[in-house]
Amino acid sequence: MIEYSYTEFLGYRSIKHNPSGYSLDLDISEDSTIFGGPARFPHKIGPLDCFFRASSPNGGTPLIITGRDLNEHDQFLRDLCIDPSLQYVEIGAGLGEFTPSLVDRYNGSLEHKPIVIDPADYQVIRELLKYAIDFGFCDELNDKFREWIKRCDTILDPNKVTLVNLTLGDALSENTYLNGSSDVVIDHRGPLTYPSTETIHDEALGDDVIKQRVSNLEKRLAKPGGILLSDGLTKFRGA
Ligand SMILES: C[S@@+](CC[C@H](N)C(=O)[O-])C[C@H]1O[C@@H](n2cnc3c(N)ncnc32)[C@H](O)[C@@H]1O
Repeated sequence: MIEYSYTEFLGYRSIKHNPSGYSLDLDISEDSTIFGGPARFPHKIGPLDCFFRASSPNGGTPLIITGRDLNEHDQFLRDLCIDPSLQYVEIGAGLGEFTPSLVDRYNGSLEHKPIVIDPADYQVIRELLKYAIDFGFCDELNDKFREWIKRCDTILDPNKVTLVNLTLGDALSENTYLNGSSDVVIDHRGPLTYPSTETIHDEALGDDVIKQRVSNLEKRLAKPGGILLSDGLTKFRGA
């Protein structure tokens, strides 16, 4: 049985799952004006400040796991024309809507299951969300939790998504088939925003160098002629 604890701090309410050596917290604030609110993040994560924090599988920087709806994604993803014959891979999908909406909208007509590369523990996240629904938060939050449970179900369904439950670097080295596998490679606030989650991270190197290294790893996923769509609309066509 999974055990949880509950704390309140500076207007944040946290539901924690802390077995030894691993932690996963759901942090919630219904007041976006409080100190420590969304301003802590480089990017808006929706009207309710609600996200997961998990200890890193590599022992490094904790993972921040958000679940933006498609209308909270950058314009280039909202406007992306989907071609069901292409292979899509999303790195750092978290609980975001992009890949689940691809499956929902094109299920049956997608020629290739989308690939998700993310080390997030979707099983525990799903259990924690079910637990959170019984907690008596406002209806808007409970609706969000139900939607996120649906997204977890999609990502965990091997008939719908190929989940590579590792960080990008580990995914590439442990699954060589991923190299050159995809037509469209997407990173929306994933490892490019959190490059210190990669083992290639080195404090001595500047941010730009680390980001370039992560970007190079992402490019390895693209087929010749494939594209990488990442934060800041970096576009790259595989050679
Ligand atoms: C801030 S969330 C973004 C989630 C979603 N794409 C969105 O826009 O709401 C960052 C996600 O990137 C994942 N992530 C962080 N570092 C990663 C890495 N090195 N490789 C793969 N995924 C990573 C985290 O687990 C988390 O799910």
